[in-house]
Amino acid sequence: MEELYLRPARIQDVRHIHGLLLDCARQEFLLPRAYNELYSHLRDFIVLAPRDGLQVYGCCSLAIAWEDLAEIRSLAIMPEYQKLGWGSRLVEACVSEAVTLGLYRVFTLTYKKSFFERLGFVEVNKDKLPQKVWSDCIHCPKFPECDEIAMVMEL
Ligand SMILES: CC(C)(COP(=O)(O)OP(=O)(O)OC[C@H]1O[C@@H](n2cnc3c(N)ncnc32)[C@H](O)[C@@H]1OP(=O)(O)O)[C@@H](O)C(=O)NCCC(=O)NCCS
Repeated sequence: MEELYLRPARIQDVRHIHGLLLDCARQEFLLPRAYNELYSHLRDFIVLAPRDGLQVYGCCSLAIAWEDLAEIRSLAIMPEYQKLGWGSRLVEACVSEAVTLGLYRVFTLTYKKSFFERLGFVEVNKDKLPQKVWSDCIHCPKFPECDEIAMVMEL
């Protein structure tokens, strides 16, 4: 059985991450990310990958929003690798990085309320998040009728 692990993303992963996010975006689970955005934010990403091989089976990113706030975004696991705990481990790895960076709060915008609740996130009113957080939302086809749930974890 192939051995999988979490590691920081590398430049060779970008095409895989792009495809993975596009597949999820087609099902309206999350927003796609353009190549230029993925290249410039590559250091935000952690990926799930086989020890031997170039594929990427999952990804998640931690995007710093402000001095006391970061966003967990672009979380996706390929369907064949879901429900094995990898999604949780990716989120935990991003949260752990936030702690290392000295951040006090992480948030996410999601449809997967129970998944994030299990990890310690709590639902908050979107007004509780700073205005800057919404800068990407204008690119969303659903803007301004956003139906995602805002969830926060205090660290
Ligand atoms: C959301 C997503 C990333 C979760 O990834 P995942 O790898 O399946 O996550 P986990 O395996 O850690 O947890 C998923 C569920 O499987 C369960 N699970 C974990 N390990 C398990 C195991 N060994 N056996 C049975 N169930 C297990 C968890 O309890 C969890 O249940 P919950 O969702 O009711 O809390 C994945 O479903 C996905 O990519 N979805 C499409 C994109 C998306 O919606 N992204 C979120 C945008 S914020």
